[in-house]
Amino acid sequence: MTEPVATNIVRAEGRIDGEARAANLGHESRTVWFTGLSGSGKSTLAFAVEEELVRRGVATYVLDGDNIRFGLNRDLGFSPEDRTENIRRIGEVCRLFQDAGMVVLTAFISPYIADRQQVRELHPDGRFIEVFVDTPIEVCEARDVKGLYKKARAGEIGEFSGISAPYEAPVDPEIRVDTTKPLADCVDQIITALDL
Ligand code: ADX
Repeated sequence: MTEPVATNIVRAEGRIDGEARAANLGHESRTVWFTGLSGSGKSTLAFAVEEELVRRGVATYVLDGDNIRFGLNRDLGFSPEDRTENIRRIGEVCRLFQDAGMVVLTAFISPYIADRQQVRELHPDGRFIEVFVDTPIEVCEARDVKGLYKKARAGEIGEFSGISAPYEAPVDPEIRVDTTKPLADCVDQIITALDL
């Protein structure tokens, strides 16, 4: 981790910590980190898991790649450096959600193993759950929900993950999801693994 640019800063600490906030909400905090290609189903899954968690009274929130790029990360593009910064900032946001006692679900391609590892290291053991949305590129491309694969193949979008930019699949994720199965089965698999 690089040091802050600012000097003369001192951490302020209140009397309530993340554990106390989580206890107040009635469950533990988690970061559920969905990773996979564009069109693999990360957002669909994250929103479906969110719905089920809300039904169970869990305080949760989804951070979605496209949405975050309209706001917090509107200054970032898709170069390797910008993707790394994208994920670094989201990791810090996850840390804040952890401290708030919540279950945060993230849906970012997050193509680099090292970037995902850095986010993992911001979390206490067992709180970071990596979910590999293991949809083959042929399937993502056939779906092409946003029409981006077509554009990438035509050379209209550069540095497209899986085509002209890398995607490094997780080696040992906590959860691997097969999106050829029904959505409800995938949601069940994730909810069970969260063990809240
Ligand atoms: S990440 O690689 O930095 O993690 P992120 O999840 O935030 O990516 O954003 C990916 C989304 O941006 C894709 O789902 C797609 O809609 C859009 N997008 C636009 N250009 C690209 C590109 N060159 N590569 C991948 N996704 C892109």
